[in-house]
This record gives sequence, C-alpha cells and structure tokens, in this order.
Amino acid sequence: MNDEVIRCENLVKIYNTGQPNEFTALRGINLTIKEGDFVSIIGSSGSGKSTLLNLISCLDTPTRGEVYIEETPLSKLSGNERAKLRNQKLGFIFQQFNLIHSMTAFENVELTMRFAGIEKKQRHERVEELLRQVGLENKGNNRPTELSGGEQQRVAIARALANNPKIILGDEPTGNLDSATGATIMELLTELNEDQNKTLVMVTHDPLIARKAHRTVRIKDGKLEEETKGTLIGNHNE
Ligand SMILES: Nc1ncnc2c1ncn2[C@@H]1O[C@H](COP(=O)(O)OP(=O)(O)OP(=O)(O)O)[C@@H](O)[C@H]1O
Ligand SMILES: [Mg+2]
Repeated sequence: MNDEVIRCENLVKIYNTGQPNEFTALRGINLTIKEGDFVSIIGSSGSGKSTLLNLISCLDTPTRGEVYIEETPLSKLSGNERAKLRNQKLGFIFQQFNLIHSMTAFENVELTMRFAGIEKKQRHERVEELLRQVGLENKGNNRPTELSGGEQQRVAIARALANNPKIILGDEPTGNLDSATGATIMELLTELNEDQNKTLVMVTHDPLIARKAHRTVRIKDGKLEEETKGTLIGNHNE
C-alpha cells in the first residue's frame, strides 16, 4: 500500500516581476511525505519556504513540476476541484492566525464546515468538540480581539481540523507567540500527529518545532537539503 500523501516533483517557481526582475525562488524541489510524518521546513529568510508551502497548499501554481496530494496531480484539477481538495484534505495554520475578526471563535471554526455543506446540528456539535479539544470550550463567543495570541492560534488549529483533514500545513505557526505559548501550541500539534496520525508540514524558524519533527529539510538557494539532528546528510535533489 502506498502511504505517500504529498509528493513534489521537480518544482520550479519563477516569480515574474517584469523581465529584468525575474526571480527563481525554487530550483527543482523533490520532496515526498508519508502519512503520519512530521516534517519541518527550515531555511533563512527569503529562501523559499513559504513559496514551497503555498505550492503544496494549492494557493499558487509552480512554473514547472508537479505537486501530488494523495496521488492527485494538482495541475490537472479545475479551480473548483482544487478548492474542494483544499477544503477536505488540507488544514492550515498561519503565523498571523488569519481569523475573521468580525466572527466569534465558534463561527471561525464553523466556517469551513459551512463551505463543505455540513448541516447545522452536526456542525455545532463538531465545533463544540473541537473547541474542547484545544481547551477553549468557554471562549466560543469571544471574537479574536478578545483572545490572547495563543488562544487565537488554538482557534486556528480547531478551524484547521474542522473537516478532519489528513494533512496540516503551518507557516511559522509559533512565530508570533512567546516561547511558553509556542511550546503549548507545539504540544497540541505533536498530539495531533501522535494520537490522530495527522501528517504535519511546518515551515519554521523555531528550533523547538525542528526538534520535535521526525524529519527536517532545509531550503537553501531554492534547493532542498535533508538534515538530521542539525547535520547535513545529503542533497535531496538530483
Ligand atoms: N509574489 C512574489 N513576487 C516576486 N517575488 C516574490 C514573491 N513572493 C516571494 N518572492 C521572493 O521569493 C523569495 C522567497 O520568498 P518566500 O516568501 O518563499 O521566503 P521565506 O523562506 O518564506 O522567507 P521568510 O522566512 O522571511 O518568511 C524571496 O526572495 C521573495 O522576495
Ligand atoms: Mg515565509
């Protein structure tokens, strides 16, 4: 059985900001991630981490190469099919939390389930269960501005889990949190990986995340290198 959930094949991303300003952010990235894996992506600022994550998230399209999510090549999907795949298979956590400020915590968690067409009673039970899971059962009526940073990120995690995706993608999920709060968020993510077999892919500068991950890959000059315990063991490309 093939338990591969993400495969990036020869991904190249060239940003076109006008001919002389063409910028190659990714130069042939190959990366395979298996179900239940926990991968951290590290690298200096501007090295292409978010670019890679955006391609895996189907937020952006590669200039060349292909991303497969559970063997589905993303380039072959229509806009609607991509949106559906995002909604059902992927959950997202961002550095800025990206909650909708006019909505309560409850409504933020509920939103993707509304898009997925889940009926109200089931939706409400699920939101309550998720808020309990992230320890915010008493904060459902608070708006994001009435929550601490760590609490906002926990709402974002509950939202990411709403449609029970296999894969959780994070771009600097602890980047805006103090180290103690970041550690709590990391514990929650580690539990999701260990207890629910969620596949985690986390872009990070945070050594705590990189330490908890099973696998760390580093982007350097638009290329990927695999690392173990801080030691470079080889180039993943070519
Ligand atoms: N839309 C865009 N148009 C042109 N260039 C871009 C665009 N988005 C990113 N870049 C460039 O691509 C490179 C990689 O950017 P990216 O956001 O992937 O870096 P990063 O590794 O996530 O950095 P950070 O750690 O600072 O978040 C940078 O040099 C950036 O300036
Ligand atoms: Mg980034």
